Amino acid sequence: MCLSFLLAFILGPTRKMPLTASAMDFFQLFVPDNVLKNMVVQTNMYAKKYQERFGSDDAWIDVTLAEMKAFLGYMISTSIHHCESVLSIWSSGFYSNKSIALIMTQSRFEKILKYFHIVAFRSSQTTHSLYKIQPFLDSLQNGFDSAFRPSQAQVLHEPLIDEDPVFIATCTERELRKRKKRKFSLWVRQCSSTGFICQIYVHLKEGSGADGLDALKNKPQLHSMVAKSLCQNASGKNYIIFTGPSITSLNLFEEFEKQEIYCCGLLSTRKSDCTGLPPSMLNNSATPQSRGQYRIRMKGNMSLICWYNKGHFRFLTNAYSPVQQGVIIKRKSGEIPCPLAVEAFAAHLSYICKYDDKYSKYFISHKPNKTWQQVFWFAISIAINNAYILYKMSEAYHVTRYSRAQFGERLVKELLGLEDTSPTH
Ligand SMILES: *[C@@H]1O[C@H](CO)[C@@H](O)[C@H](O)[C@H]1NC(C)=O
Ligand SMILES: *[C@@H]1O[C@H](CO)[C@@H](O)[C@H](O)[C@H]1NC(C)=O
Ligand SMILES: *[C@@H]1O[C@H](CO)[C@@H](O)[C@H](O)[C@H]1NC(C)=O
Ligand SMILES: *[C@@H]1O[C@H](CO)[C@@H](O)[C@H](O)[C@H]1NC(C)=O
Ligand SMILES: *[C@@H]1O[C@H](CO)[C@@H](O)[C@H](O)[C@H]1NC(C)=O
Repeated sequence: MCLSFLLAFILGPTRKMPLTASAMDFFQLFVPDNVLKNMVVQTNMYAKKYQERFGSDDAWIDVTLAEMKAFLGYMISTSIHHCESVLSIWSSGFYSNKSIALIMTQSRFEKILKYFHIVAFRSSQTTHSLYKIQPFLDSLQNGFDSAFRPSQAQVLHEPLIDEDPVFIATCTERELRKRKKRKFSLWVRQCSSTGFICQIYVHLKEGSGADGLDALKNKPQLHSMVAKSLCQNASGKNYIIFTGPSITSLNLFEEFEKQEIYCCGLLSTRKSDCTGLPPSMLNNSATPQSRGQYRIRMKGNMSLICWYNKGHFRFLTNAYSPVQQGVIIKRKSGEIPCPLAVEAFAAHLSYICKYDDKYSKYFISHKPNKTWQQVFWFAISIAINNAYILYKMSEAYHVTRYSRAQFGERLVKELLGLEDTSPTH
């Protein structure tokens, strides 16, 4: 009782935002003006370097901070009004939008798009291919860390970033195939009571970089490395990390336990690294066959649970005592008994799935060709979702009550300079 009372003060947003805080104020907790000013400087430096190499571009003049904000605003507008190319805003077609097209000409926008950079020059010490975006990812991480303290329960997973249902329903086979060529995978550690994404990890796929990871063809090995990176700074905080079958393994969980990170993962004999687990527990013919029954094997604090519910489900955990009872409630069949670990896993994962269904609709749909730019727009999309979560937990929400779509619209208008952002309205 006392502990949960205390936790209520420790978890969640770390700073109180004013009643009048705007969508922009929340967004700028993660992407402040100094970061935008750096984009201005780097873009101008890159344009200069480009022209020194390829001849002067008479149509170019240095970009300003206000233009950089408008540039982001246009891109972000494609997270609400999904279109294949941001340029359709200036077109005469279905996605044209006269009210925002007037802020900047299409040719000016395209110039900024051409030269847009976060890091204009490669330093001699650069060893990995995300160097063009790493400083931005680092500052975003600092923003996430300092604005929010997650709940104890967190999930490691790959969010649905490419599965905009509207797009998939309307695009051609060829477009879909082209889109599948994404050269990186994106992983997150996500707070499972709010949906706030605490950390992002970008893994570059084979052939796309010299970061030494290309040799990791073995999936469980790769996923265990992803998990370690995502929990790098999680030690000693008594977190409970929920994982899917490709990450769950005895070795990883034991390693995490030494750092006081506890785990609860679904295990699959096909997808998981089952090294060190008793074979008798992995054999379906030797395990329970009636609904709600389970068997448990323990070693230290680690328990391997085999639970039957019209199929065998295996869980590995050192976060829950196997003697604690739980229950799964199904609409048709009612209550099915299970260990508490199974109930907790189902609850946290279903929250994240619902979150994904709702918020993956708000990813920026403009898809540039360059990998670093794709990563950048995904990261910006995640930052806006996180900003909305903080907004919903703030007093400002009690006044304005914007939906996620309305919040996005406000942010676009503020970035484009169409809204009065002073706190007097
Ligand atoms: C982890 O913590 C170290 C030291 O505090 C910091 O330098 C590093 O950026 C952090 N990493 C992440 C991913 O937060
Ligand atoms: C699984 O268990 C059955 C019955 O206990 C046994 O006959 C079979 O050999 C076992 N299979 C494996 C792969 O261990
Ligand atoms: C089990 O967990 C407790 C803390 O929850 C720890 O002190 C202990 O060392 C663990 N035991 C083993 C065998 O890992
Ligand atoms: C992206 O690639 C396609 C096909 O290679 C090309 O037609 C298009 O102009 C490129 N877009 C940009 C913005 O470079
Ligand atoms: C144009 O874009 C703004 C900002 O995103 C939005 O509020 C408005 O509804 C859009 N108008 C049309 C006709 O799509």
